Amino acid sequence: MKTIISASMLASDLANIEKEITRTDASGIDWLHIDVMDGVFVDNITYGNNVVKAIRRVSDMYFDTHLMVNDPTRLIPLFADAGSDMLTIHLESKGDTKENLAEIKRCGMRSGLAIKPDTDWKECIPYLELCDMVLVMTVEPGYGGQGFIPECAEKVKQLREYCSKNGFEQMNIQVDGGINADTAAIAKSAGANVLVAGTYLFKAADMKSAADLIR
Ligand code: DX5
Ligand code: ZN
Repeated sequence: MKTIISASMLASDLANIEKEITRTDASGIDWLHIDVMDGVFVDNITYGNNVVKAIRRVSDMYFDTHLMVNDPTRLIPLFADAGSDMLTIHLESKGDTKENLAEIKRCGMRSGLAIKPDTDWKECIPYLELCDMVLVMTVEPGYGGQGFIPECAEKVKQLREYCSKNGFEQMNIQVDGGINADTAAIAKSAGANVLVAGTYLFKAADMKSAADLIR
């Protein structure tokens, strides 16, 4: 599968967000990863649907929106309206996961299901038919700039094997957290095809070369 690079805006200079998105797009990066945190599901609060709507006006990049919120149900149509292309919810969030994934599709977005490092990948199995992507977190959600948890690569490997053998050959498997040139290679060989990187890309001397190196 073709590798997709998704740049996590969390590590960008948020005071100059339009410039940061423009340079991300100009670096040939495929997707913009937007980490929405509610201060309940995780410690921090980041940005919400209004910010997505604002940046939609200045960018036609693919918006890969990662909801780290306690109760995503009510928010799904708001992010569709704001212009998200992919909406990923956590398996550990409240609400009916199947219904939420179906609602994401009904709202015209692609659907993602995320699992935290301690969640067994097998818990995703009942939802795969409703998912365009599974996000295997490779750090605890909540903060950028953390180190990749090596054990998570094994989860990716087992999930990819399961998908290949059970009719989900086209499933996107995303990794998020601590991705750099070394860990990207580990994640890709385990079977991940969508790599989220924040610190690695935004703090690189040359974003395009950094992205090309992990592609
Ligand atoms: C963590 C977020 C990540 C984070 C990745 O909760 O979901 O997307 O921004 O940042 P880096 O690449 O710096 O680990
Ligand atoms: Zn994320």
